[in-house]
Parts: sequence; structure tokens; C-alpha cells
Amino acid sequence: MTVNIEPETPIVEISNLQKSFGNHQVLRDINLKVEKGEFIAIVGKSGCGKSTLLRLLAGLESASDGVIYTNGEQLKGRNQLAKIMFQDGRLLPWKKVYQNVGLGLKADWHQRAEKVLEQVGLADRAYDWPSVLSGGQRQRVALARALVHEPEILLLDEPLGALDALTRIEMHQLIEDLWLDKKFTAVLVTHDVEEAVALANRVILIEDGEIVMNHPIKLPYPRQRDHPLFSPTVSHILNRILGKGKISTSELRLTKVE
Ligand SMILES: Nc1ncnc2c1ncn2[C@@H]1O[C@H](COP(=O)(O)OP(=O)(O)OP(=O)(O)O)[C@@H](O)[C@H]1O
Ligand SMILES: [Mg+2]
Repeated sequence: MTVNIEPETPIVEISNLQKSFGNHQVLRDINLKVEKGEFIAIVGKSGCGKSTLLRLLAGLESASDGVIYTNGEQLKGRNQLAKIMFQDGRLLPWKKVYQNVGLGLKADWHQRAEKVLEQVGLADRAYDWPSVLSGGQRQRVALARALVHEPEILLLDEPLGALDALTRIEMHQLIEDLWLDKKFTAVLVTHDVEEAVALANRVILIEDGEIVMNHPIKLPYPRQRDHPLFSPTVSHILNRILGKGKISTSELRLTKVE
């Protein structure tokens, strides 16, 4: 299946974004347009500012300079279109699984929580405490808790970073299925280039506070790891991150924001 992205007002547009903590400038000049329904992966070395950018998109952090637009409007305060999911899940241990998912909901919260738990394959664990779940199951709960709000934008900060390789692959399939079904826009921060290629239609590389690569992934969905172009794509991006490959002209052109 190919996913067609309709060109319209970008759901997110980042223009000349800068972020400093004291005199430490983390993001120098970030420019990026995200179309509705895209799946963007952000990669880059530890400390390059990936989480900072995600928090800025969520409105949890304010910019030092520059603007973020959502659906053409300047973002001020919390991003109401977005929900964020973190690496550690952040479940409340004193609430049962379904109560964690229903947190902050009003009408029909119980039914909605149960429905989304079913979608992530955890219908039978709704009445358990988070402490008795495996790491992968806890992350499914965290995903359910974000999705129950039906966000237009799902922000994922290394959500699978602590999981074993097989559970990660299962989670990739789940996230892909949910994205294809619900058609939200996703921005995933990850260290794992394979994960980026398994999920994203575009991979962004941050280096020295700027986007230095903006690489479209043209592989069809559902993504197959044994597709002949899967591994070469992973290697290409990895080499670029490690500074082994020169950036191509087409990538440079794509990096520019029109
Ligand atoms: N609240 C803060 N106060 C001061 N410095 C911060 C703050 N948040 C982040 N930083 C600094 O900004 C830089 C980027 O941090 P960030 O967490 O965005 O990196 P990252 O790319 O997500 O790294 P990692 O891959 O290790 O998660 C780091 O040098 C970090 O120390
Ligand atoms: Mg981070």
C-alpha cells in the first residue's frame, strides 16, 4: 500500500526555531514542514536536541526564537492537537490499567479506555495493576493512554527504547497498524535507524542544532524488513549519521524549506 499525503496547510510548520538553555544553544535554526498524516522520524546523536524539539512541538517548552505553526496558527502554550508518549511510559502505579488509560477523560471514559486497550491487544489486562505488566505491555498501555484522546498529532520520544528487539518489532507493527487505521500525524524520536525506516515516510537528522538531512522513505506500507531496499536505506542513513557518507544534492534540496 502506498500512503498518499495530500498537499494542504501543513499540520506543523517550524520556522527558524531556536532553543537555548542559558548560554547553551541546542537548536540553532530548525525549519520543517509536516503534512497531515505523515510519519516523521527524528534521529541524531545523543544530546543533539531531539527531545527538546519534541517538547517544543508539544508546547511543553517555549522557543528562544522562531515560530511553530499548527494548522497555520502560531502555537502558544500547550499543543492541543498533540499527545506525547515517553520512553518510560509514566503510568500511575496506584491506578489500574484502565484507570491509567481513562485519566483526564470525562464522558464514557470507561468504555473508551476499554476499547482502546482492545486495539493495543490488552483487553484482558484492563483490571491489572501496571506493576504486574511486562515492559512491552506497559508501553502498550502508555500508547493506549495517548490514543484514547484521538490526537491529531502523536509525539513519541523513544517509546520503545527500553524494550527487547522482538517486542520492539511487534510494537512497530502495532504502531504502523494504528497509524494506517487512524491516520494521525506521527513524530517519532528514536536512536534506532531501523525503527525509523520501519515506520517513517521521512527521516530527519539533527546535527549541530540544524536539520542536515531530510530523507524520504519511499518503501511501501506495511513495511517489510526483507524488502530489498530496507537494509540499504538503513545503512545510508546510518552512514550519514556517523559522518561516513556525503549528503546528496537531492537531500540538500529536500532540506530547504520552501
Ligand atoms: N531543561 C534543560 N535545562 C538545561 N539543559 C537542557 C534541558 N533540557 C535539555 N538540555 C540540554 O539540551 C541538550 C539536548 O537535550 P535533549 O534531551 O533534547 O537531547 P536528545 O537529542 O534528546 O538526547 P538523547 O538522545 O540522549 O535523548 C543536552 O545538552 C541537554 O543537556
Ligand atoms: Mg532524548
